[in-house]
Amino acid sequence: MEFISDSLPQFYTDSNPPGSKPSEGANSPLIFIHGFPHTHELWKDQVTELSKHHRVVTYDLRGFGASAGNDGPLLIDFFADDLFALMDHLGVEDAHVCGLSMGGYIALRAVERFPKRFRSLILCDTAYKADTNAAKEKRANQIRQLRAEGLLAFAESYSDGVLTPETLVDLPEKLPQFRAMILQNSAKAVANGLVAMAARTDSTETLGKIGIPTLIVVGERDPVTPVSIAQEMQTAIRGSRLEIIPRVGHLSNFEAPDAFNSKLLHFLTPLKTS
Ligand code: MLT
Repeated sequence: MEFISDSLPQFYTDSNPPGSKPSEGANSPLIFIHGFPHTHELWKDQVTELSKHHRVVTYDLRGFGASAGNDGPLLIDFFADDLFALMDHLGVEDAHVCGLSMGGYIALRAVERFPKRFRSLILCDTAYKADTNAAKEKRANQIRQLRAEGLLAFAESYSDGVLTPETLVDLPEKLPQFRAMILQNSAKAVANGLVAMAARTDSTETLGKIGIPTLIVVGERDPVTPVSIAQEMQTAIRGSRLEIIPRVGHLSNFEAPDAFNSKLLHFLTPLKTS
């Protein structure tokens, strides 16, 4: 399915389009935001399981997967604009939002801008501070690598280390699936995503102002956004809950879907009043 944001056609999936069948919570869907450099397919196992209980929406971020990109610069704020455009298109006043990594940056920015449009916030394997100079330099090197070696080489080196050795042994299909997902994106989208992350705002001041139920999920061995960052967020966000998923790395939902889904259900079920 498609919605339009900033004149750009954007791809989304909706487990329960309004009018098709009655569903609890149909007015406040659970919207998943993928990270860098993924597509909506990151959430395949969540759609299968959680759509038994909730209206579940996934989408491809601007320029990624089947969604059109804009000319010129890309910012996390534009991704947040697209989330609001999606919610307007769905005709929903508010939503439960769940973002992983870059998707978490987008969710946090969206909650900062219009807190009343969210019933709850789920931050997975993500961070709240802006990039350090070292992180910006790393992104510049990744863009250099993309230009010099192309997307395939980038996908191979980027995916090394994102999943834990345990995942590689327990679920050997995950690495090729992850690489195939990266390759659904263009080199341009991947480079633009790196620039958008390097230019993102800092959300340190916002954490103390978040007033909606918040769940923080992190892989025990996340090498990109480690447990210590998740613990800082939990301390700063009033009443938030932290769930650490054992044995997994940066993609906790993808590496341990059953554990991840049960944490989300445990969090969301008491909130289902709409
Ligand atoms: C992601 O998974 O979205 C990115 O690795 C986040 C980042 O590089 O900051």
